[in-house]
Amino acid sequence: MRILGIESSCDETGVALVETGDTGWPRLLAHALHSQIEMHQAYGGVVPELASRDHIRRVLPLTREVMARAGHTLADVDVVAYTRGPGLAGALLVGSGVACALAASLGKPVIGIHHLEGHLLSPFLSEDPPEFPFIALLVSGGHTQLMRVDGVGRYELLGETIDDAAGEAFDKSAKLMGLPYPGGPGLSRLAEQGNPAAYKLPRPLLHSGDLDFSFAGLKTAVLTQCKKIGEAAHTEGAPERADLAASTQAAIVEVLTRKAMTALKETGLKRLVVAGGVGANRELRRQLNALCDKDRVRVHYPELHLCTDNGAMIAMAAAMRLQSGMQVAEPRYSFDVKPRWPLQDIAHELA
Ligand code: KG4
Ligand code: ZN
Repeated sequence: MRILGIESSCDETGVALVETGDTGWPRLLAHALHSQIEMHQAYGGVVPELASRDHIRRVLPLTREVMARAGHTLADVDVVAYTRGPGLAGALLVGSGVACALAASLGKPVIGIHHLEGHLLSPFLSEDPPEFPFIALLVSGGHTQLMRVDGVGRYELLGETIDDAAGEAFDKSAKLMGLPYPGGPGLSRLAEQGNPAAYKLPRPLLHSGDLDFSFAGLKTAVLTQCKKIGEAAHTEGAPERADLAASTQAAIVEVLTRKAMTALKETGLKRLVVAGGVGANRELRRQLNALCDKDRVRVHYPELHLCTDNGAMIAMAAAMRLQSGMQVAEPRYSFDVKPRWPLQDIAHELA
């Protein structure tokens, strides 16, 4: 069975084709991606209306590209999958509308996928896929969650952010240092030249006794430091700026790693999956690898290019849901999108 996946929840248009076999996990045949980052950079963040319009422009050419790369035609597609939520309503409507229209024209069934489930299952696209059960640290621009994952569609929320997401903390701090949107990658590059102990920044909820996160206070602390440092806080080449970047990254990474390790200890699980855009962060990977090594925990990451939003993870999540019998694809072409959609809800909603 071949599944075409379409992702359009935010500022990346992603399309992919995966194939299920008789044994093993589905495999990726081809994928293509267009990032809108450059377009939104001028505004310092994602402009929803521009995002929707760009998805419209990109989605069909990307679909043609994927089919050509995979050496297939649309007639070879058995199911069309799309991101149903969470995300920007207008952006989601483009992917959902195109997916349903395409499926209707082909006479094939459709399946709506939860964006975070896509991230969560993206390590199954790697050479060394995880095994259930595991703890998942989901760290993206919009979400920060620790989940216990017992199987496809079996997700238990252990903790989450009560305010900003980890990616948001990276992006907002980076903005204060004059780095372009999205600031995560730029801040982490700058951090490599700085001293992580230079500035004392808060580690919110580190000792809260639960697995929740809070990053809004960190951004305020970074703003206070920026004011103290003055011009150098956003001057290229200034050592203070690199030190502040390193200190910010250290604070975010310490909270994420400590809470992830606590989740592993509390559940007794020996496997960790890190997913979402912030999962690309080198320092986070370095520290998690060291801690997991010490505690004999296997840690899995999606391939670096599949950490941020993409169509492959949506096609893969659809394929895994279909393969495991968690959901069936239906020839129903009326659709709704779910801009707000807690991942733990899908267990009972889609059962
Ligand atoms: O998963 P994703 O592509 O989109 C959402 O679903 O939100 O994550 C995007 C987030 C942004 O906040 C971006 O700054 C962050 O991931 N990010 C990083 C890195 N690469 C992407 N943050 C820190 N270090 C990185 N290397
Ligand atoms: Zn995402």
